[in-house]
Amino acid sequence: MSQPKIVAFAGSTRTGSFNKQLLAIAAAAARAAGAEVTVVDLRDLALPLYDQDLEAGAGLPEGAKKFKALLRGSDGFLIASPEYNSTITGALKNAIDWASRAEADGEPPLVAYRGKTAALLAASPGALGGLRGLVHLRSILGNIGVLVLPDQIAISTAHEAFAADGHLKDERKAKQVADLARNLVATLEKLIA
Ligand SMILES: Cc1cc2nc3c(=O)[nH]c(=O)nc-3n(C[C@H](O)[C@H](O)[C@H](O)COP(=O)(O)O)c2cc1C
Repeated sequence: MSQPKIVAFAGSTRTGSFNKQLLAIAAAAARAAGAEVTVVDLRDLALPLYDQDLEAGAGLPEGAKKFKALLRGSDGFLIASPEYNSTITGALKNAIDWASRAEADGEPPLVAYRGKTAALLAASPGALGGLRGLVHLRSILGNIGVLVLPDQIAISTAHEAFAADGHLKDERKAKQVADLARNLVATLEKLIA
């Protein structure tokens, strides 16, 4: 059986991000379930704000090429994103947009996305846990050819949810996160068999 390849990234760039912590838990569970997981910090990609003139003049920036290649070479994604003003963050949308662009004539459209499968998570200090942002993220990914698993996780009161070592204090929630990651790996194993 082939080993599923997953790229994991968070919609927040900040140090100490709750979503990065949540992503780390999901990534560890996916690894334990047998997947090869590459965690990408969007900050490290140093992506400029998407500008079609910039792209026309110089093509994709190095960070965008790297991110797109990682997505293209993967079978699926783990994404944990906060919601900003009830939708996904600008950083996440910017990264999705850059990686949606073709680099050569004749390249099939949306090669980084079509045929991939994703699992979604969110965390927020608020009561909804970033749930409203996931509605939009699910829609965006579906429209660019990504199969999004029906189950998702939203961790509310995130400022109280994590212990100092990064694990989720609530065992039930921790199991839900691990189950989602395992579900993604199991689905990918079937899809790439
Ligand atoms: C511009 C901005 C808008 C925000 N809007 C929302 C929101 O609509 N809903 C929400 O639950 N939290 C909102 N927040 C709070 C974030 O959920 C909080 O900053 C969270 O910690 C961000 O995720 P992170 O810890 O992964 O960086 C907003 C924060 C910022 C900076």
